[in-house]
Amino acid sequence: MQTNHELIVEPIGLDVEKLSRPLNFAELYGNDHPVELEIGMGKGTFITEQAIARRDVNFFGIEYARFYWRYCSDRLRRHHCDNARTVRAEAGFFLHEFVPDASIDVLHIYFPDPWPKARHNKRRLVQERFMPTVLRILRPAGRIQVVTDHANYFEQIDRVIRSTAGLAVVDYNRPGSAGDGEFVGTNFERKYRREGRPFNAIAAVRA
Ligand SMILES: C[S@@+](CC[C@H](N)C(=O)[O-])C[C@H]1O[C@@H](n2cnc3c(N)ncnc32)[C@H](O)[C@@H]1O
Repeated sequence: MQTNHELIVEPIGLDVEKLSRPLNFAELYGNDHPVELEIGMGKGTFITEQAIARRDVNFFGIEYARFYWRYCSDRLRRHHCDNARTVRAEAGFFLHEFVPDASIDVLHIYFPDPWPKARHNKRRLVQERFMPTVLRILRPAGRIQVVTDHANYFEQIDRVIRSTAGLAVVDYNRPGSAGDGEFVGTNFERKYRREGRPFNAIAAVRA
């Protein structure tokens, strides 16, 4: 992957090696605004549009692909999103090691990798063993939102979320930055929409 401009990661992109465990979000952002976390932001369309539109919310992005992490961090920097930070890390590890209890207002997961081959299904992010971490990091009444184009993965996501004690399924909230007929308005959504793929969404709140 290449761009025609230099990608500058700092000050949005953080070095995981230099972070305190657990993180102190108030120290990190210099305020105690609510924190919304996105896993796998790719090129960062959603997190950037949200961080621009909602300056009184802190956004945190976790992305493990180096190019996308750098691209997204640079994009947030170019838009002066002082209310955003990102890390290059595997989300399960990062949440477990760094994200404090009851610290997240909304967990956003849009178009997670579906790992379609049966023998790879165990690599999917949203599965039973991920849910205790979700419950731990969400504040009371905090929300998780997931959108996918993959029917089989959605069946799993829907089943796992509905069977998690402590989560109650609620209406999915379309972010204000989503365009007409869009669920979120991410790069993948726009690409898949042109191909005519159907999407599914689910949202739940912590009791
Ligand atoms: C299919 S892409 C979707 C990107 C973006 N959300 C969108 O809709 O355009 C999935 C992204 O999640 C990232 N990703 C997948 N699993 C991850 C994990 N366990 N931790 C961090 N990032 C992950 C991938 O590198 C990729 O950028």
